[in-house]
Amino acid sequence: MSQGYDLTSLNAAFAARFPDSAGPVRVARAPGRLNLLGEHTDYNGGFVLPIALNRACYAAFAAREGSVRVWAEAYGESDEFNPADPERDDTRLWANYVRGVAWALGEAGVAVPGGDLLLTGDIPLSAGVSSSAAVETACGLAFLALAGVEMPGRDLALLCQKAENQFVGVNCGIMDQFAVGLCTEGHALLLDCRSLETRNVPLAAGAPVFFVLDTAKPRELAESGYNERRAQCESAARHFGVPTLREVTREQIERDKELLGDVVYRRCRHVLTENERVLQALDVMGAGDWAAFGRLLDGSHFSLKDDYEVSCEELDIICALAREQEGCLGARMVGAGFGGCAMAAVERAAVDEFAATLAPRYHAATGREPRIFAVEAAAGAGLCR
Ligand code: GLA
Repeated sequence: MSQGYDLTSLNAAFAARFPDSAGPVRVARAPGRLNLLGEHTDYNGGFVLPIALNRACYAAFAAREGSVRVWAEAYGESDEFNPADPERDDTRLWANYVRGVAWALGEAGVAVPGGDLLLTGDIPLSAGVSSSAAVETACGLAFLALAGVEMPGRDLALLCQKAENQFVGVNCGIMDQFAVGLCTEGHALLLDCRSLETRNVPLAAGAPVFFVLDTAKPRELAESGYNERRAQCESAARHFGVPTLREVTREQIERDKELLGDVVYRRCRHVLTENERVLQALDVMGAGDWAAFGRLLDGSHFSLKDDYEVSCEELDIICALAREQEGCLGARMVGAGFGGCAMAAVERAAVDEFAATLAPRYHAATGREPRIFAVEAAAGAGLCR
């Protein structure tokens, strides 16, 4: 467990928040995720390669009669709803992630009983490391445990995505929920988003350290920009008469470049080259060639910046500054883009210097206070007890 989230302190926090709860208190843990490569490929039936973070959302929970009561530590706010009929709440977005999972479980035939839930954790919010999928998954595990129902991780991942798409109303792909639910310690997870097949890819001892570089630039245009990119990809797939861009080749987009138009052509080129980069990454990781892996990270960034146009000034600056630093093998923006986080791969020997030097340089260039932290490939979600 991360520091500060041992079971004893979670228990104490729960008892302080819900003094009338009869217990016993159980705990679900669901980590954030960092996608090493394969950005904006999931909803195009492509490949992604995330790791689960050693930073997580914890749901401490216990059964109760009647409603579900929730306390969200990060917001200092509570919620209460009827688990048999969860309704959308337009005043607090975070609450819909909890209610949405109860709703999706109900749709799947799971009768979610009453309960008290305390949500806490150390995943930075709104930063591109999937705190939302972590909240969904932690709540899903808690509700399933309260209902006494077992569900395979991939089914829970699909259910959480459904909650986010249909209840919360965010049009995300499947990467985040799969990463949070199915990653294993010391491995990246290769997910084929067409077949939903997964493979654990070991991060050998010689692997670099991965850093999350949070630009502190809010992701203002993320939702509209994201939906627009999806629509552009879908229109290109329709043009080729296939379900997703996964079925399209480089030759086809070159041949139809004029018909697609420059913008859609470049969107396609990003998706196709990004899928190629994920497959190349598997080879270079297997060979322990982390310098080549770093070049793939840089290639991904420039493709996201120039072809997919989802980067922003702050993301470009933090990646450029990172690349100048001793021992940095490569850097790229991660997640939906338009702000939020980037990541860098850094040789172990250079780790201390990296964070200490990059933060003031980024601050000097942008006036923003970045959050820079190293992460480890941790286990996916599960019940702690
Ligand atoms: C967001 C979505 C994911 C994925 C990424 C881009 O994080 O939630 O499903 O599409 O953007 O790779």
